[in-house]
Amino acid sequence: MSDLQSTLESRLQQAVSAALGPDHADADPVIRPSNNPKFGDYQANLAMALGKKLGQKPRDVAEKIVDALDSDGLFIRVEIAGPGFINLTLDPALLSTQAAAMSADANLGIAQADPQQTVVIDYSAPNVAKEMHVGHLRSTVIGDALARTFDAVGLKTIRQNHLGDWGTQFGMLITNLLDTGFDPHAPGSDNASPGELTKIYKAAKLRFDNEPEFVERARQRVVLLQAGDEETLAVWKALVEDSKQYFDTVYQRLNVLIQPEDAKGESFYNDRLPGVIERLEQEGRLQKSQGADVVYAGDFKDRDGEPLPMIVRKADGGYLYATTDLAAAMYRAHDLGASRVVYVIGLPQKQHVEMFTTMLYEYGWIEKSVRMDFVGFGSVLGKDKKMFKTRSGETIRLVDLIDEAEAKAEAAIAEKNPDLPEDERKAVAQAVGVGALKYADLSSDRVKDYVFDWDRMLALEGNTAPYLLYSYARIRSIFRKGEIDFDGLASDQLAVSEPAERGLVLQLLQFAGVVENVADTLEPHRLCNYLYELATRYHRFFEQCPVLKAEDEATKQSRLALCHLTARTLDRGLGLLGIQVVERM
Ligand code: ARG
Repeated sequence: MSDLQSTLESRLQQAVSAALGPDHADADPVIRPSNNPKFGDYQANLAMALGKKLGQKPRDVAEKIVDALDSDGLFIRVEIAGPGFINLTLDPALLSTQAAAMSADANLGIAQADPQQTVVIDYSAPNVAKEMHVGHLRSTVIGDALARTFDAVGLKTIRQNHLGDWGTQFGMLITNLLDTGFDPHAPGSDNASPGELTKIYKAAKLRFDNEPEFVERARQRVVLLQAGDEETLAVWKALVEDSKQYFDTVYQRLNVLIQPEDAKGESFYNDRLPGVIERLEQEGRLQKSQGADVVYAGDFKDRDGEPLPMIVRKADGGYLYATTDLAAAMYRAHDLGASRVVYVIGLPQKQHVEMFTTMLYEYGWIEKSVRMDFVGFGSVLGKDKKMFKTRSGETIRLVDLIDEAEAKAEAAIAEKNPDLPEDERKAVAQAVGVGALKYADLSSDRVKDYVFDWDRMLALEGNTAPYLLYSYARIRSIFRKGEIDFDGLASDQLAVSEPAERGLVLQLLQFAGVVENVADTLEPHRLCNYLYELATRYHRFFEQCPVLKAEDEATKQSRLALCHLTARTLDRGLGLLGIQVVERM
């Protein structure tokens, strides 16, 4: 919890204890920043719940608390409003010292968790030999932002890319490659370009859908693959390596931190699957259903209201996606020592994740103290509110979106700032284009679908990456204009006198709490909303409070310090979203 928030809370708890007795000392003071300066800077809404509990009027309870409240050094005004809201106005001296403390902290006040606490985050997870499409954007970008946030709050973060690198589809892929004379040992054979990967998949699929003889050979190839046949494995490896290299180029362009060594695909769990089935068997949990092995847990029901089984082994002995997820969760909880496992996957897999997590808890295979969270997200839609597709109805390649984002950003920058040297323009366009693409995804509540709209995401106004990046660049331009060394600024003197300064500082002080909240709720859009409000308040401040032309030197220094702290907060916040700032645009 951030410093200021906890200071306010403990002061209120002291008052509650003094007014109502120590029994109530741990009552949650329900302190929130006010959304209107009319109601002070913060509101404490604890009198409602306490009044109910004590059978007293909330307003009377509020009065007792306020009478007992020690305002010294914290509040310059305390008022009761409406049915019993307590409106708190902070002492400007407190705001100054808090802002200076935030500024002095390299972490900008973000509290650090126990570094032994391990969180495993499963995200991105594209499928081998297939192009990454717009659907993978979401898991990759949301997962990256959450992983960066876990890092920021001091958790030990383990990124896991659960690549789809195993399964029956490899039967057809390998068969077709071998039919066309593919030699996995020939030099250069592991360097297929992305276009080729898609071609390989499409060619195999076409034959699979049309040639019964091919289907049969593909099926036999799966058996060979599972049996560890050398030639088959070599082709499989070449395919996986190609895809991994390709995914890595996309990750780099997207500026996400996931590394090749974070890849732990489905195949990694292969030799753990028989153990999963054995244990289920020993514990008497396996049941037969049409020849397949299934398990039940929780009260998941199918469409007819019958208990919903989870298939863990097919009649032919093959394992399934779910079997792998059981093994992977065990590996994460026990081998990696996770106290929290986070799954960033599209909402259609919600039930799948809920089923295997419920099972693991119910069977006692994973302790309840290990938190397993499903971070679901909605779809990306076109303007017609249907799945986002190309005009000819094909899924949109992620790389094409990145290309277009950069090109559009470059055109906009060339128009706005024609003097920017070409190489800087390219670099800025990358940051702005990719930033816009990612921000559009991150800023909407993830469980909702969102409509993909170039104009909106690239707009310089509104809750967009360009607006935030531009705000940052504007601050940097003040320093350039005033010939002040940005990185060398000592910003420990911050006076808070004007209302616009106050509004800005109050927002700045909430940064740490918002970051901690995102690490808990797993909702990056909260950070986006925060940054948008911060930039908005900064612009208000900038309009109302001259910086370089301030009335005296002390005011100028203080305002420069405010600009500096705002820029650092924007930089850090955007950084947590995986968005790079630019010094000018
Ligand atoms: N590869 C899967 C897909 O594209 C996503 C995997 C998600 N992670 C997991 N542990 N199931 O649908």
